[in-house]
Amino acid sequence: MAGFFLMGTSLFILAQFQCFSSGESSFGLSYHGGKLMTEPVSVNILWFGTGWQESDREAIRKSVTSLTSSQYLVKDSEVPTLGNWWEIIRQYGDSNNVPVTDRVDLGAECFYTGPELNMTLDQVVYIGRSVFNKSSIKGFDGNLNCYRLFEVNDNSIYHIVFSYTVMFLDSKEQRQLMDMCSGSFQLEVFAGLKVNILWARAPQNAADQCSMLFHGNSYLGPPNGDEKVDSLVGYMLANIAEEVTNQDGSGWVSNDGSGMTVSNSCASPFWRDNGDPPLFRDTEKNMSFNVVGLNGYRYIMPYVWDQKTRNCALKLSETCETNAMVILKEPKGYLRGGIIVNHSNGLQPYPPNQKCRWAIHYPTAKFIRFTINYLSVAADSDDHLLICKAKSKSAECSTLKSNNGRYEKNFKLMSSKAYIEFRTGDQVSFESRGWELSYTAVSCTMLGLCYGKENLYKHDGNIGYVASTSFPYVEGLKCLWVLHGKPGTPVFITFTHINISKGLDFLAIYNGTMQQIANFSGLFTGSDLPQLNLSGEVIIAFTTQTDQGEGWSANFYITHPVNHDKKVFVVILIVVLALIAASVSLLAVALAVVRKKLERKNATDSDEGLILMSIEAIQVENRIGEGPSAVVYRAVSTDGGLVAIKSLKVIAAETELQQEIMAKSSSHPNIISFLGHSQDGLGRHYFVFEYMGRGDLSLNLRQRGETLDWDKRIAIALQICSAIQMLHMYLKPPVYHGNITSENIFLDEFYNAKLGGFGAANYCSSSNRANPEQLSEMAEDIWSFGLLLVELLRGEPLVDRETYKNSRRLEEINELLGSQECIDRRLTIPHETCKMGFVKLGEIAKWCIDSSWRVEGGKNNPKIGDVLSGLKQVKLLFSTASG
Ligand SMILES: *[C@@H]1O[C@H](CO)[C@@H](O)[C@H](O)[C@H]1NC(C)=O
Ligand SMILES: *[C@@H]1O[C@H](CO)[C@@H](O)[C@H](O)[C@H]1NC(C)=O
Ligand SMILES: *[C@@H]1O[C@H](CO)[C@@H](O)[C@H](O)[C@H]1NC(C)=O
Ligand SMILES: *[C@@H]1O[C@H](CO)[C@@H](O)[C@H](O)[C@H]1NC(C)=O
Ligand SMILES: *[C@@H]1O[C@H](CO)[C@@H](O)[C@H](O)[C@H]1NC(C)=O
Ligand SMILES: *[C@@H]1O[C@H](CO)[C@@H](O)[C@H](O)[C@H]1NC(C)=O
Ligand SMILES: *[C@@H]1O[C@H](CO)[C@@H](O)[C@H](O)[C@H]1NC(C)=O
Ligand SMILES: *[C@@H]1O[C@H](CO)[C@@H](O)[C@H](O)[C@H]1NC(C)=O
Repeated sequence: MAGFFLMGTSLFILAQFQCFSSGESSFGLSYHGGKLMTEPVSVNILWFGTGWQESDREAIRKSVTSLTSSQYLVKDSEVPTLGNWWEIIRQYGDSNNVPVTDRVDLGAECFYTGPELNMTLDQVVYIGRSVFNKSSIKGFDGNLNCYRLFEVNDNSIYHIVFSYTVMFLDSKEQRQLMDMCSGSFQLEVFAGLKVNILWARAPQNAADQCSMLFHGNSYLGPPNGDEKVDSLVGYMLANIAEEVTNQDGSGWVSNDGSGMTVSNSCASPFWRDNGDPPLFRDTEKNMSFNVVGLNGYRYIMPYVWDQKTRNCALKLSETCETNAMVILKEPKGYLRGGIIVNHSNGLQPYPPNQKCRWAIHYPTAKFIRFTINYLSVAADSDDHLLICKAKSKSAECSTLKSNNGRYEKNFKLMSSKAYIEFRTGDQVSFESRGWELSYTAVSCTMLGLCYGKENLYKHDGNIGYVASTSFPYVEGLKCLWVLHGKPGTPVFITFTHINISKGLDFLAIYNGTMQQIANFSGLFTGSDLPQLNLSGEVIIAFTTQTDQGEGWSANFYITHPVNHDKKVFVVILIVVLALIAASVSLLAVALAVVRKKLERKNATDSDEGLILMSIEAIQVENRIGEGPSAVVYRAVSTDGGLVAIKSLKVIAAETELQQEIMAKSSSHPNIISFLGHSQDGLGRHYFVFEYMGRGDLSLNLRQRGETLDWDKRIAIALQICSAIQMLHMYLKPPVYHGNITSENIFLDEFYNAKLGGFGAANYCSSSNRANPEQLSEMAEDIWSFGLLLVELLRGEPLVDRETYKNSRRLEEINELLGSQECIDRRLTIPHETCKMGFVKLGEIAKWCIDSSWRVEGGKNNPKIGDVLSGLKQVKLLFSTASG
């Protein structure tokens, strides 16, 4: 009898787990040619003892049938299922690679309810043998009952489960049983016919080493309500896993002579001394679990050996496609590496030899914010999680590591692109569980509906911040809307939607003296949505501390708005923190002056004494720009000066008009000098202008923005404004340019800006001042100029200018001006007081843009003269600051 319990699983053996989790040895199992169970098996259970409730039996039966059932719960999708657990077992196959069975069913059941105290092993063996023999069952006086007799065949598993009530005689031999939680023994059921009998026992009390409580941890309570039964389930299923992979002791066994197997190579889930194998916690039901079964049953299962990843697992590891790069185009999302990463706790180590790569690319993003939800990548391992600015690995990168799952530093990358790589080495320690991060690519236009302060002077309208997929809810917002009602006159606010994070994000309403009137947080629907009847000035402040929420919206009605005229300049909050000048390498200025000997030609087009090269030669050598309707060449005039020749691709009917306008306006120092016009035999038109050595402003801002410091930018704004003033005010009839963009502004060697690109220019359609058309043409130039100011501030053009034409987007402009991220980072701010300059510049830009869509007759529209004097003040602010 002494050998009966030899194959027991005890926690003394489990302790050896530590040896190979250290990562030094290359522990593994190999197949020794023995019998594996590859056919469908049935599990026959002998319920031993009186300590069973029917609910206990059901939990145990369901655990067996859950192993290979195809029905899994989808609800607890983060949690491994018993089916996942069995998939690990199914990676073990015989010499023909036939895996172990994919069907485990229940077989016969018998119940022994006789005297349970001071049993001897002989008695157990006798009872065990009897369930195979009908006539011997009768000898138990009703203490042994079977639905069906156990049958001997190759595809049966026989399992005795002892309830906690079963006691054994206190002899040395039987003591062994109490040291173990499960095991197996050979039993000769009939003469010469031996079977393997498995057994597992329920712990007798909390001090029993087979009890989860004995190992005390963050364990909340048993998943099926009975700590004893729930402790037993794991041992029982581990027995079954071992039986199919190693029935005769020469199946899958370790090579190192330690006799380790699939189920005893890993620590039990409640083993605490080595690391902290995590459990899911259901605090409502006061229970812990780590796998789920059928019908909502939850269990705590031991880890089993995953030969593929050479580590302990509850579920096969998800591996990533090495060398495949996943491109993420959503502005918001999360990434994870490793497996089953709960937000606070990974359940098992990640696989070795992984290389997963992601690229986040969100072209309009100003920065990408990362929040590390969980990080367990051991610091002393070869593994790493790398986050880089932009795609290339030579870019700025951070390597993130943490042994404890926590990583306090969240960060943002000032880039529209990010590259993330997760790489793991040959050996992964059991403590390395993986990581999860979330990211938000934040564009200025995204933040636009909020951030900063918006003043409202109109009677009614809609305000709010509404998130959508392309427009995420952002953490750290601080925005104000000021409804300017005359003191004492009613102001009504009706909220139509509020769904913001309760207790963290707030929507607070203040009166003119900043007394809080109301403060909302959370979800409001239907009749709960607040309606406020207030008066005078009302301020709505929205602040967020989370990125979880949908936002809010409200309609307002100001019965008597304050006359906006008196408050032309609106305060925009600009928080200027230290702006770091990016070390963008200078692109070589490609416009080096090359003088060439000119080949004289009998020119039919020698207006104003110009001799031109043949166009063909110029095309090849000196093309300096191309637009949809024209190509521009550099050429040298007879006096040796450089000129630009614009060749129109399409013959425009208005050529004569344009010529006239250009001739009239080119006396201004900030309008490109028009030198002449010619036409070739094919009717193609050529316009000749002065040559601007530094090319257009757009290019300069984009590629050489750091050379355009704030003084230069303000000078450019002033010069162009002055050019527009000349067109609008001093020409008779007035001229509107119609296409004021940075592409149509050119810089000479001394950074003097000149307005060109008169292709869309026209006389204002009527001199009748009341004519709304005229206003809109004028306003259009001013609107464009406003956008140009924004571009000068940001150092890059607005994508899709047209979208800023409707009123809704005005708020986005607010943002463009209101957030430090949106001011060209390549330049440093020379002095604190420059803030005022920025504020003012922002005000002017906003005023220009704001007014163009205002439909109420344009009375408040800025005149270019006012804009110019505003810009002069800005210049003054900057020069006093830097002086
Ligand atoms: C079990 O055996 C021990 C001695 O081995 C004895 O002290 C005890 O009384 C017995 N219990 C019962 C219920 O027979
Ligand atoms: C079944 O049990 C009876 C009574 O214990 C015994 O006489 C008989 O030999 C057993 N049958 C077999 C096949 O062992
Ligand atoms: C939850 O269960 C644990 C262990 O059984 C117990 O100590 C604790 O008091 C229980 N908590 C609640 C809230 O029921
Ligand atoms: C993940 O862990 C957190 C904190 O322990 C817990 O609130 C959450 O329910 C867990 N998730 C799952 C799926 O169990
Ligand atoms: C704001 O509310 C406070 C307290 O209700 C009141 O004393 C104060 O006069 C109010 N201010 C305005 C401008 O209505
Ligand atoms: C709103 O009220 C809550 C408490 O009710 C407070 O914690 C929070 O700071 C308030 N928010 C604002 C913006 O006043
Ligand atoms: C607010 O004013 C509107 C319009 O005068 C009225 O219908 C509504 O009942 C008022 N609500 C409250 C809460 O006073
Ligand atoms: C509130 O917003 C959350 C997202 O933050 C969403 O899951 C939830 O369904 C929303 N509730 C309602 C009633 O719209």
